[in-house]
Amino acid sequence: MTRILYVFLSLLAATATFGQSQRALKFNDDWHFSLADDLQFRQENYNDRQWERVTLPHDWSILSDFGAEFPAGNAGGALPGGIGWYRKIFQVAAKDKGQHISIHFGGAYRYTEIWINGKYLGKHSNGYLSFSHDLSPYLRYGNTPNVIAVRVDNSQQPNSRWYTGSGIYRDVHLKYQQHTHILPEETFITTPEVSTDKGTLRVQSQIHNPEKRNLQVALHLLDQNGRRVASSTAAVKSNKIDQTLSLDKPQLWDVESPNLYTIQLLLQDAEGKELNSLTQRVGFRSIAFDVKKGFFLNGQPFKILGVCLHHDLGALGAAFNKSAAKRQLVMMKEMGVNAIRTAHNPPAKEVLDLCDEMGLLVYDEAYDMWQKRKNKFDYHQDFKEHHVADLQALIKRDRNHPSVIMWSIGNEIREQFDSTGTVLTKEMTAVVKALDSTRPVTAALTETNYVKNFIAQAQALDVLGFNYKYADYDKLPKEFKNVPLIASETTSGLQTRGVYDALHDTIQFWPASSKDKFVTNGNPDFTVSAYDNVAAYWGTSHERAWLEVKKRDFLAGIFVWTGFDYLGEPVPYPYPARSSYYGIVDLAGFPKDVYYMYQAEWTDKDVLHILPHWNWKKGDMVDVWAYYNNADEAELFLNGKSLGKSSKNADRLHAAWKVPFEAGEIKVVKYHKGKAVQEQVKRTAGVAKKIKARVTHDDFKTDDDRDLYFVEVQLLDDKGEAVAHEDIEISFEGSVGVEVLGTDNGFQADLRGLNNPKRKTFKGKALAIVRMGDAATTKAVRIKSSLGEISVPLETTK
Ligand code: GAL
Repeated sequence: MTRILYVFLSLLAATATFGQSQRALKFNDDWHFSLADDLQFRQENYNDRQWERVTLPHDWSILSDFGAEFPAGNAGGALPGGIGWYRKIFQVAAKDKGQHISIHFGGAYRYTEIWINGKYLGKHSNGYLSFSHDLSPYLRYGNTPNVIAVRVDNSQQPNSRWYTGSGIYRDVHLKYQQHTHILPEETFITTPEVSTDKGTLRVQSQIHNPEKRNLQVALHLLDQNGRRVASSTAAVKSNKIDQTLSLDKPQLWDVESPNLYTIQLLLQDAEGKELNSLTQRVGFRSIAFDVKKGFFLNGQPFKILGVCLHHDLGALGAAFNKSAAKRQLVMMKEMGVNAIRTAHNPPAKEVLDLCDEMGLLVYDEAYDMWQKRKNKFDYHQDFKEHHVADLQALIKRDRNHPSVIMWSIGNEIREQFDSTGTVLTKEMTAVVKALDSTRPVTAALTETNYVKNFIAQAQALDVLGFNYKYADYDKLPKEFKNVPLIASETTSGLQTRGVYDALHDTIQFWPASSKDKFVTNGNPDFTVSAYDNVAAYWGTSHERAWLEVKKRDFLAGIFVWTGFDYLGEPVPYPYPARSSYYGIVDLAGFPKDVYYMYQAEWTDKDVLHILPHWNWKKGDMVDVWAYYNNADEAELFLNGKSLGKSSKNADRLHAAWKVPFEAGEIKVVKYHKGKAVQEQVKRTAGVAKKIKARVTHDDFKTDDDRDLYFVEVQLLDDKGEAVAHEDIEISFEGSVGVEVLGTDNGFQADLRGLNNPKRKTFKGKALAIVRMGDAATTKAVRIKSSLGEISVPLETTK
């Protein structure tokens, strides 16, 4: 059968945790920080007492107001870069002498240099990859303190097409282990055989064994209840071990039931004494791509329903927080998303842990550029020296996650237009395959003519991704024969939540063509209508993009640009627009209307969502749309009078009516087989009288000790109707020990810094992101405004 071109079987591991013979401690607290730059800061006796105290993860860029003067430009988020220093004084207990002690950075942006006790450890140049250093040779033990100094340089600007953040923006850990230990990054877990009858698990590992001891490795597979279900022991001969286990009737990992097992690798001496261990979660699942039928998960046809996500977390900037990332992923999953494309860089490792747990597939991306630049100071300047090692580091870090289903070596790489693209594609594909041959290698391309596409001409990629280019979809299988295809990026629709302009029956392109940098006839207030009818000229509406992918089985799936608005790239406007309009959800985490179009298409939940609000001028002609599913048609009532039925059709994924405005209420009823099954009402709201605050937290709980609270504010009139036509200034204040980390309203041209506790609502809504410290007493946030003051307890509310 030629049908299945690639079959990739793999099992994966997520979090590596440690047994008693070792520890991995968070190393995030009590850092001293300065935005000055002086090489004497590296010296151990430098007096940094006056410096600011910060907790990692930390992004200094997000702490500024937005400004036109910053060289990152508004594409880079209109926030400052610069150079920052971090120093931390710490002690290592005398009993830990003789241990192997290393420091692990989840990620720092951008050039990062590290000194321990004045000794230089090296420079790291890739702002999105994790890196580590062995500290043991330089440490002092007992009461004598150690000093670690880190210089992070993000001064070369512009260096990105989106907001990067600056600083040590992911977790740092200190790991203590025996000098003789298992090398986590060399451990590779695959599942050569996966079926509901039998699963085979292969674990290849490597031991760091400087003393050449006689060792053995015991491998155990644990089920969800922690019971050992299979075991094997092997003697360590060449420091490389290859073990296989099998399991009858494994519970497979998939997006509905992300069943995870755990493996324990125990490194023992000749007497069986444990020296070191490695614990990783694994999932039995198989993946396959097919030129005609798209993608298969565990042997079943499966349409990949994905979104692209950049790495910032709205008002937190790039400073990683696991609960904030989970909030994004939960919202995406509830919308029906089953896959994430990490545009256009390696994500925080914790994002992959979440995807493993929640059942989300991941398209894991390495680069947005190779040798040819997209910005003056971007990674192209480091590419030559570092791209092989960086790619290897990415694959080794992420290859044990069941969620990861493909590797992308690049997005819209300029080398697709010249022969160096062929050479580099072959080289990088080989680099990936040497470390993981169980997953396809892909790239997101734009040139759809084979002769002109030098990346495709390498014939090295397993799957070709195409961004946009809808008109060429049917040409693709003819041009690129025998290679599975995926719509790696689509849409680029533009919307501001809660804004509704006329002219929504045709798609408008903002900007209209490559001749214009910006929209020439846009809205003077830098908003874009949230009827799904405005897109960048290379894109199209959400409905159109999805309809194009939906009807073509040969496309393995779709990745919509983007799930959430992100900082930077505010097409179609110049400054003061400073964050993107592409999201299905705004930067604050409030869904735009089109969220429900996807939910209706991609889930079985009963969906009925009406737009717009019902506050217009008498006589205005208003387009009313309803997104719905599980029904044949919908009927609109204006103040009790039927205005007729409407339904979706092959070209349109919503019901629509033109309604002369009349204050009161609109109601949409949806019918299935003639029976009314669901209704929704919108009423004309009066002036804002009250604030409703909803706190979310429990749904986004993680194993991290820094989970956040999200306080969502909605203005209401005196009857409790949501107000979307009036906005007021709000001030958020935490009680003792409760810290307001950031606020937002989702408006893309609000120039007040996102860490400011004051925020004007936008279309009736605002958000505060809150951390509750250990010493918090009252555990509440006070919300002050012209409507008075309320105290909101930090408990999850509906
Ligand atoms: C794509 C690109 C994305 C983003 C998007 C905006 O071409 O891959 O990174 O720039 O356009 O529409």
